[in-house]
Amino acid sequence: MANVFAKKNLVLKHGKGAVVWDINGKEYVDCTGSYGVALLGHCHPKVVAAICEQAPKLISCHASFYNDKRSEFLQKLIAIAPKGLNKAFLSNSGAEAVECAIKLARKFTGKPEIIAMMGAFHGKTMGALSATWDKKYREPFQPLVPEIKHVPPDNLDKLREAITEKTAAVLAEPVRGEGGIRVPPEGFLKGLREICDEKHVLLMFDEVQTGFGRTGKLFACEHAGIVPDVMCLAKPVAGGLPIGVTLAKENVMSSLKLGEHSTTFSGSPLVCAAGCAAIDALVEEKLAERAAENGKYFKAKLEQLQQKHLIVKEVRGLGLMLGMELKYDVLNVILKAKERGILILDAGRNVLRFLPPLVISKEQIDEVIAVLDGVLGEEENARASGTPSN
Ligand SMILES: Cc1ncc(COP(=O)(O)O)c(C=O)c1O
Repeated sequence: MANVFAKKNLVLKHGKGAVVWDINGKEYVDCTGSYGVALLGHCHPKVVAAICEQAPKLISCHASFYNDKRSEFLQKLIAIAPKGLNKAFLSNSGAEAVECAIKLARKFTGKPEIIAMMGAFHGKTMGALSATWDKKYREPFQPLVPEIKHVPPDNLDKLREAITEKTAAVLAEPVRGEGGIRVPPEGFLKGLREICDEKHVLLMFDEVQTGFGRTGKLFACEHAGIVPDVMCLAKPVAGGLPIGVTLAKENVMSSLKLGEHSTTFSGSPLVCAAGCAAIDALVEEKLAERAAENGKYFKAKLEQLQQKHLIVKEVRGLGLMLGMELKYDVLNVILKAKERGILILDAGRNVLRFLPPLVISKEQIDEVIAVLDGVLGEEENARASGTPSN
C-alpha cells in the first residue's frame, strides 16, 4: 500500500460497538470510530444482516438502471434530511461528495468562485483539496483548481467583503473537525445563511464528519435552525461501507444534465442495503439524542481533566465530536493511551480528537477518562522535570 498513512503499529482484527480487538486479543475502547465512520458501533448487527441478505441477490447495479435497494435508501435518506434537500447524488467518499458540490455550484450559478474557510478540511482529491486549507496537503500539488479562495473562519464581515460578482457558493463545515474541533460562535451559521441569501450565492455545508447524529442532532445545521442549499455526507452513512452523498435542493441538482457528472459505483445495491440498515438503526436507537446526552457527559469529564492538568489548554466540541487542546504535541499522549487500551485521534499537532461510536457507554467514557487522567499526569510530570518524550 502507498506509504501515505501514518501507521499506528496496531493490527485490528474485530470490533463490536465501541470496542475493537487486536490480533493478540487485546481490547481497546475506540474513540477514533475509524475516523468517524463507525458511528453506529463496529459491525452493527442490523448492518451485518443487511449486507448478508443483499450480497447473494445483487451487489452491483449501475445507476443507469433502477434498483429496489437504491430507491429504498434514497427514500429513507430524504425522509431524515433537512427539509428541502430532496435530490441526491451518490458517490463513494467524502471528497467525492465535495467534488460534486463544487461542480454543482459552478453549473447552477454559471459562476466560478467558491469561498471556503481557513482551517477547513474537505478531502484530498484535486477539487476538494483546493477547498482544504492546510498547506502541507496543498503545496506539493499546485496548481490547484482556480477560483477557490479562503476567508478567516467565524467572521461574517470578512465573508461579506469576500463575496464578489464571480462567487457561486460558500462552503463550510458547521463544526470544523480536522481543523481542531472548532465550534463556530452562536449566530455564525445563521449569519452565513443570511449573507448567502442576501448576495444570492449558494450555501454548501460539508457534514461529512458532523452529519448523521454525531453532534447531537441528525445534522449539525439543525443546531442553527437553518438549511443549506447543498450538503455533503459520507463516513457513517452506509454503516461502514464506502459512500458519499451530495444532497441539494431540487432546482440546484437539476442544473446537472445527463452525463455531466457520474461515477461507476453510484448507489450500488450492497452499499444501499447497508445504508438502509444504518438509517434505521440511527433513528430507532435514537443515536443523535444519545450523542447529545453522552457527549455532554464526556465533555464535562474532559473539562474536569482540564481543571486538574495544566497542560490542557481547552476542551471543545458538540455531541460526541470532542476535542481537547494541549499546550504541547499530542502524539505521546495518543501512543501511551493506545498502550493502555484507548484509541484517540489527533486534529492537528496539539488537539486530541474524540469521535467514538455513538453507542459508547458512560462506563466506557469513564475508562477513557481514567486512562487519559493518568497519561496527562505523567506528561505533566515529565515536562516539569524536563524530560518530555516529544
Ligand atoms: C469534513 C470532511 N470533509 C471531507 C472529508 C473527506 O472524506 P474522505 O476521506 O471520505 O474523502 C473528510 C474526511 O475526514 C472530512 O472530515
